[in-house]
Order: sequence, then structure tokens, then C-alpha cells
Amino acid sequence: MNILGVETSCDETACAVVKDGREVLANVVYTQIPLHQPYGGVVPEVASRAHIEKIHGVVQEAMKGGASIDAVAVTYGPGLASSLLVGLNAAKGLALSLGVPLIGVNHIEAHLHTPFLFDAGSGATVGSPESYMPALGLAVSGGHTTWIDMPSYGEYKIIGQTLDDAAGEAFDKAAKLLGLGYPGGPVIDRWARNVPITDDLPRFPKGAPRPGTAALAGLDAELCVSFSGLKTALLYSVRKNPPKDDAEKARIVAGYQEAIVGALANRTARALKRRPYKALVVGGGVSLNGRLRARLAEVAQAAGVPLLLAQPKYCGDNAAMIAGLAYWRRNVTGDAALAVDVDPTLQPGD
Ligand code: KG4
Ligand code: ZN
Repeated sequence: MNILGVETSCDETACAVVKDGREVLANVVYTQIPLHQPYGGVVPEVASRAHIEKIHGVVQEAMKGGASIDAVAVTYGPGLASSLLVGLNAAKGLALSLGVPLIGVNHIEAHLHTPFLFDAGSGATVGSPESYMPALGLAVSGGHTTWIDMPSYGEYKIIGQTLDDAAGEAFDKAAKLLGLGYPGGPVIDRWARNVPITDDLPRFPKGAPRPGTAALAGLDAELCVSFSGLKTALLYSVRKNPPKDDAEKARIVAGYQEAIVGALANRTARALKRRPYKALVVGGGVSLNGRLRARLAEVAQAAGVPLLLAQPKYCGDNAAMIAGLAYWRRNVTGDAALAVDVDPTLQPGD
């Protein structure tokens, strides 16, 4: 079964064709990063206008291979309402004109499908998603930092999350403050790469939430993080001791990255102790981070579970993950009515 996926929740205009939920036949991503770079962050109106300009070209490119399409899948949340609307309406038009069902997909749940995708012709390197359940999922991106209990494939329950900024947002804000460019995650990853991790690196708050805040959200504080104080700590530290050269800047950035990665690794290790999981499944743009990958590998090994990460090209936003997960979601949700609306605050498991 070939599903065509459409993704426009934030600043990537993407379309893909995926066979039987895993084999990627086409994967086209137009990234708007250069458009948002001058602002140091995504500007919603710039994003939705760029989606409108690019969506037809991206869809045409993905359909160039001539594969027959059995269903159309689309992200209907979470994300920017004005961006989601562009993809949703394009997908409705496509489903109508092709005479195939439309399947609405949750963007965060789709990030957790990325480790199961493989390129056409290359063969799968991991088993079926079902064979790794129950699994612990970690979706970590510019908009989300969420720990998700997956008892069976297609079932999602949030067990922990950030109570304020997402990890990617924390990277982006720091890079902006230090004038390192946008998006901040890849830049900080690069700056920090050659800095040895020692005890005397600059220290930053370790991501513990303020007492009581997790309980207010009905969550367990031990599995939650807070990154909103990090940027302020960085600002004060740089004001007090401005870095004299690039080497010092790199040490600051490495210490900052260590605080974020340490918090993510620590909550993941705790969550893995809560249940007898069969795997740790990780997705989202921040999962490209070299230090995070290394720390999560240690955590998974200590817990005796495999760490399932996506190929780099499927870590950031893409439509292959939407088309892929739709193959499973069609059994859970049925074919979404063509009247489906965007849901900017959709949560995993909703
Ligand atoms: O998944 P994604 O493309 O979009 C969202 O759904 O948000 O994630 C984008 C985020 C940005 O905040 C970016 O700075 C971060 O992922 N990111 C990284 C790295 N590459 C991208 N963060 C840390 N290290 C990286 N290498
Ligand atoms: Zn995303």
C-alpha cells in the first residue's frame, strides 16, 4: 500500500510517498530556514506564505516516480495553525482528486516512527515496530520534549515533558544570544564537538522543574524538565564573564549543551526503570545532536534495551514519517473525514 504524506506544521514544506509504512519511495523536503534566519526564529506569516508558494512543486516532485497512491496522509497538529492549514487543504484536494481516503496524523507521534523508515531498495535494518513494544519514546525537537509510554504500536501516553521551553528552543535561544546563528542546535553541536567534557566546564541549571509545577500539569516531576531558566543563566554568566575568545565561547556552549543533554539522559534513564521496556525510540530534530546520541546510547545500554534512532535525514521535520505512521494509524483512527480541522495543540495519544 502506497501512502502519500504531506507535512507543513512549521517551517518545512514536505511531501513523501511511503510503501507499507516503512519503505520510502520519495522524500521531498523544502526547508524555509534561510527565510527565517534574519529573524533568529520561525515567523508564522512568513512560514505559511512560503508553504503556499512551495506546496504544489514539492507534491509534484514527490509524485514524479509515478507510484500509484492508495491514501493521502497529512499532519493536522500540533504546529502553527496557519502553516498546518496549507498542508491540510492541499491534502484534502489531493485525496478528493485521486479518489482515495485522507488520514490525519499527529506530528509528534510521527517523529517516533522515523527509526522504522528505510530507503527504497536498501532493506530494513530494524524489526517491525510491534516487535519493540512496549517501548519508551522520546520526541525531542524545536517544539517538543516529551517522554511517551508506548504500550503497543499506535498507543501513546505522555509520562513526562518539558514544562516550558523545548530542548531545541533552548539551543536556538542560546545561539541567538551568543550571535552564533540560526538554528542554534546544529551550530552549538559543532562548537561543542571538540571540547573535552570535564568537571570545570561552565555550569548551568540542570533542568529540574520548580517544585509543584509538574504536579499542576498532572505529571511526575521526576520525568519532567524545565529549560526556561537556562537562557537567563547563560545571559548572566556571559554578562559577568564575557568570553575572551572562541575557545572560551566553545567551552560555554559545551557546558550549556551538557546541561540540556544531561537532563534529557537523566529523565530517560529514570523512565526506563519504571517499566520493563523493550526499546528506547527517539525522534525529532534534536536527536541529531552528537552528544545526546552518545549519552542515550549509554543510558539504553545500562537499561539493556536497544536504542532506535532515525537516519539523520528523517530526524528533522519530513513527510515520510507522516506517510509511514499513517499506515498504522488508519487502523486506529479509521479514515479521517474530509472535514478534519487543524489542531495546533494536539498531544500524543489524543
Ligand atoms: O524536528 P525539527 O526539525 O522541528 C520541530 O518539529 O521542531 O527540530 C528542529 C530543532 C531546532 O530547534 C534545531 O535547533 C534542533 O532541532 N536541532 C538540533 C540539532 N539539529 C537540529 N539540536 C541539537 N543538536 C543538533 N545537531
Ligand atoms: Zn517536528
